[in-house]
Amino acid sequence: MQKNFDFIVVGNGASGLLAANRLVKFGRVALVSKGDIRESNTYQAQGGIAGVMHALDSVQSHVQDTLRAGAGLCHEEVVQRVIERGSSTIQNLISLGTGFDHHEGELHLTQEGGHSNRRIAHAQDATGQAISNTLATHLHANDNIHFFKQHMAIDLITTHQMGCFREQKNRCLGLYVLSPIGEILSLGALHVILATGGVGKVYMYTTNPSVATGDGMAMAWRAGCPMMNLEFMQFHPTTLYHAQSPSLLLSEALRGEGAHLLNKSGHRFVFDYHEKGEMASRDIVARAIDHEIKKTAQDCMFLDARHLGKPCLQRHFPNISKRLLGLGLDMSTQQIPIVPAAHYMCGGVQTTLSGQTAVDSLYVVGESACSGLHGANRLASNSLLECLVMAELCVESILKTDVPAPTQRLPTWDSGGIFKQKERIQIKQNWHELRATMSNYVGIVRSDERLHRALRRQQMIQEEMTAYYWQHPVDRDLLELRNISLLSELIIRSALQRKESRGLHYSLDYPEFNAKKEDTVLSPH
Ligand code: FAD
Ligand code: SIN
Repeated sequence: MQKNFDFIVVGNGASGLLAANRLVKFGRVALVSKGDIRESNTYQAQGGIAGVMHALDSVQSHVQDTLRAGAGLCHEEVVQRVIERGSSTIQNLISLGTGFDHHEGELHLTQEGGHSNRRIAHAQDATGQAISNTLATHLHANDNIHFFKQHMAIDLITTHQMGCFREQKNRCLGLYVLSPIGEILSLGALHVILATGGVGKVYMYTTNPSVATGDGMAMAWRAGCPMMNLEFMQFHPTTLYHAQSPSLLLSEALRGEGAHLLNKSGHRFVFDYHEKGEMASRDIVARAIDHEIKKTAQDCMFLDARHLGKPCLQRHFPNISKRLLGLGLDMSTQQIPIVPAAHYMCGGVQTTLSGQTAVDSLYVVGESACSGLHGANRLASNSLLECLVMAELCVESILKTDVPAPTQRLPTWDSGGIFKQKERIQIKQNWHELRATMSNYVGIVRSDERLHRALRRQQMIQEEMTAYYWQHPVDRDLLELRNISLLSELIIRSALQRKESRGLHYSLDYPEFNAKKEDTVLSPH
């Protein structure tokens, strides 16, 4: 079945919701999402959104902090443009009704690692939830929006895939989606925006929800888009170490408000690695924890927030406190066990700041994209800002682009016709093996030997999955495994190309910086 729209947006995180909000004023929008709004990285965001909101702060200071964190790989003009829009982006969210915290009539700004000033606007410790709810509420009030809830985008449909090479440049015409009842629909549009978020699920331990399987990145790659800087996976230093809740993030804002990191002997060990201690940038703190865990043969380190006092913890961190209490842990009286976990993909589909890709009429925004803002390491709380700025610029760019309506009818999904219903243990095994391989060999500290070992295993899994894919009806589990398997190969290949240590990529074989500052670009052709 084919359905046509003016615009298709895939993903209902910050970037997708904002793009859809803007586009509904100009045409019929299909908003496709495989989960509800709670299942996005956006909804889980705790710390806040960075922007220059205080008279004593400056755009230049925020720019410098972003460049320093990015370790020489940020695209400076992109950084300047995004940071300049920080204050208006936050003001816009406030005018839409986002309930950021205030103190004595002023916006309350918190601090996070790598920032020289307090500049993080937040809604207690559930900023992403507040932003998502605000944007979703405005969208529901509009007739032009068509929700495809619990629908999973599978692959893009492009002119080149349809064999139309007469068109000089490949153009995106739409995509295939899997409905909740297993039907596959073809959706057509003049413009397609992928806002499908990150790829944390390639690792065993991640702060990301289960939807983060890099689907948009994999779809864009299969459609012909180059990928940039995929070796830079950011590990968040402080995720709860607990068997019952392995992915609970303990916001960096806790350290911003004064919480300490301790080893088993009670020593604030991060100062042994960097003069800024707990407030050093995330790559440094995560590596310090990893090193300390290995050096002392402990399972975890500890976050100590006891001295902040119960009233402060209750006021600023009510959700984290409640979730910990549910596990029998009280931050006001106990040190909390923590480990680093995969958190944010700094690389992604190579795009402009407006989300333009190598394929006409195809845009990628938010965490799936690599605009050049983050370089080799993202500064905390710059991601929500990037999502919203990119979504706005993307819509502005689309509205300026006049494209002819496609003349071709979209092909229906070809199921191949060969259905062997084999046992599914292979899927389960490959999910597990792939994520364990990435965690053990492509983690915070890397070496060529580990990366080659990971690549060999990963290629074997990918061969198996490709054969399985062509012989079985598709379902979400299989499609996601296909995508994380492709993305892990691309992450490993990117890491092997970088013969230096920079930002989030640390190699035992190449511990030094290269003089040349180059992005890693992989091309599908
Ligand atoms: P997401 O918000 O992840 O949304 C992706 C959407 O795409 C989801 O709706 C998903 O269902 C949908 N989707 C994916 N694949 C498909 C498919 N195949 N078909 C249909 N739909 C699909 N950043 C900050 O700046 N500040 C913070 O305080 C902060 N805290 C964070 C805390 C946590 C726990 C995490 C995980 C991240 C945090 N980040 C933070 C990072 C930031 O939240 C994300 O980078 C950002 O929200 C990504 O937004 P997005 O719109 O690109 O994608
Ligand atoms: C956090 O609250 O620590 C997450 C902030 C971020 O990832 O930007």
